[in-house]
Amino acid sequence: MTTQEFLGKQNFTITNQTVSESCPSNIALIKYWGKYADQIPANPSISYTLNHCKTNTSMEFLADEPFSVQTFLAGNEEVKFAEKIEKYFKNIEHYLPWILKGKYIIRTENTFPHSSGIASSASGFGAIAKCLMKLDETFSGKSSEEESLRKASFLARLGSGSACRSLYNGLVVWGKSEEVVGSSDLFAVQYPDAEIHDIFKNFNDWVLLIHEGQKSVSSTVGHGLMKTNPYAERRFQEARENFVPMKEILKTGNMEEFIRLVEHEALTLHAMMMMSEPAFILMKTGTLEVINKIWDFRRETGLPLFFTLDAGANVHLLFPNNGSEDQIKTFIETELLQHTQKNGVVKDVMKF
Ligand code: DP6
Repeated sequence: MTTQEFLGKQNFTITNQTVSESCPSNIALIKYWGKYADQIPANPSISYTLNHCKTNTSMEFLADEPFSVQTFLAGNEEVKFAEKIEKYFKNIEHYLPWILKGKYIIRTENTFPHSSGIASSASGFGAIAKCLMKLDETFSGKSSEEESLRKASFLARLGSGSACRSLYNGLVVWGKSEEVVGSSDLFAVQYPDAEIHDIFKNFNDWVLLIHEGQKSVSSTVGHGLMKTNPYAERRFQEARENFVPMKEILKTGNMEEFIRLVEHEALTLHAMMMMSEPAFILMKTGTLEVINKIWDFRRETGLPLFFTLDAGANVHLLFPNNGSEDQIKTFIETELLQHTQKNGVVKDVMKF
């Protein structure tokens, strides 16, 4: 499949419209870190789609007004975000030929705390892409639900790479992998349900808010630093290779190996940051304290509590609902919560 498939129809009729959409965030297990031109990932990634952490977006389109974008985040006007969206819309005109023919008023709200440091770009661009596809159906005619979702994923990717995975529930793969039939660098695909052991379908993700507020280095800058990182090629290769054991683990329900692989991926992501030039570290003291406590807890109890990290200090605590969750939740509340800034924790579950 090529980008040609996503080119927009030249026959369209625009009218004033308001559409609304909602899109969840996602957390990667095998990480995307490093990309080429046009948002092509350096390696495939796989993520869990979350349930409660979402962005709700309404998009008002005023036909035949000069092209402009106004954005409001939780009711407050955000000029910088509007500039970013304007640039994004100009970039995707080939795929939605009507897109520059009107004025947009975009209102967006996250269900998770604004200052939490939880990446809102995945759910944010996911929701915008869904709104655009709704407008496209009205202006250019309906396509099948499958085609529309795939194009929404394609468009979301051009806004923020990880966003393309948020269009689907369950486990989602973005990036060409020999191990996943139909996978592509251009859009995400759902990992086949029949290939996932039940233990991985009822999972918690509790996000410990170790550091609220702005990150010192953005993901975009971080991806860029992989271009000169001497370990980058080895890392990309390893991520590709990790799909082999991941496939086997997901099928057989091997929790021990799942934990090992997911934690290894998280630590590798942060190791890459430390090996960048200039180096940077997004983990905080609390991040390391929590990781060590999780390892001690696992050694002492053998219970399946483990972590992953995104490009920030917060710790995503992962654990299945398999009978041990009450003991794990008590441990989190009594031992781990103290390492957050303001007792901050966002309790989510994976969406299947
Ligand atoms: C560490 O998708 O935020 O969360 O494509 O530049 O918008 P851009 O980057 P972004 O990077 C996410 C990186 C990550 C890993 C992942 O989600 O796979």
